[in-house]
Amino acid sequence: MALVSAKEMLQKAKAGHYAVGHFNINNLEWTKAILETAEELRSPVILGVSEGAGKYMGGYKTVVGMVNGLLEELKITVPVALHLDHGSYEGAKACINAGFSSVMFDGSHLPFDENIAKTKELIACCDILGLSLEAEVGSIGGEEDGVVGMGECADPAECKAIADLGVSMLAAGIGNIHGKYPENWPGLRFDVLDDIQKLTGDMPLVLHGGTGIPDEMVAKAIDLGVSKINVNTECQLVFADATRAYIEAGKDQQGKGFDPRKLLAPGAAAIKAKVKEKMELFGSVGKAE
Ligand code: 13P
Repeated sequence: MALVSAKEMLQKAKAGHYAVGHFNINNLEWTKAILETAEELRSPVILGVSEGAGKYMGGYKTVVGMVNGLLEELKITVPVALHLDHGSYEGAKACINAGFSSVMFDGSHLPFDENIAKTKELIACCDILGLSLEAEVGSIGGEEDGVVGMGECADPAECKAIADLGVSMLAAGIGNIHGKYPENWPGLRFDVLDDIQKLTGDMPLVLHGGTGIPDEMVAKAIDLGVSKINVNTECQLVFADATRAYIEAGKDQQGKGFDPRKLLAPGAAAIKAKVKEKMELFGSVGKAE
């Protein structure tokens, strides 16, 4: 199946009270592991690409070529969206031109009026091409590609104003942060999420910083209208752990264990297991139909 916009899969998720996983990709192994897991579990999936990861992989067109090739050659039949994660205005335009099926414009650090104006302009481009667009209100904490947010909470009225522009999905800060949560993290602000959900109605809400949020908080967030959950660091951690275990066991020095196809295999298997665990938790298994 060709790439699809994330709009329809997220509307279905919102109506069906589950969430679709957004998993960030970094290379071929990552992408293949996520796509194979989605296909095995009959789950829709969103492949997230940060601007840094896009550059690392050789540019947005390279990413589009790799993903389209895998969809065809692995005979993937579940809905897959290729989505720019935390895009700048220029990055969003570049991904639209390169063939992404979905973009996030993160104007959360801009003055609100400018966030509105730029989001509006990008919605117009996406609408013409049938792409989905994610906007953000209230910056998400932690560090991502050098952008550091403080984990603030979004203003529900601002969320409504952005939702009313016609975005496909809305990321709103509710005390969530990227990367590992500190020991003293007070948890998600469900009161704020509830207020946002009441004002934005059917709008699919996005929970960034999926790594390390306790399962019961994830379930409650889905109950309160979250339909897309972003996971990045957890896949990186299990990939690194599995690769380290392989090398520490000396397996790279046995026979042809140094072959990258062998060296990177435990990490890829670990990503598959993590993605499966998340899809089961989010309730998206079997929802591709
Ligand atoms: P984590 O790295 O905390 O899982 O966050 C991912 C994310 O929100 C990407 O936008």
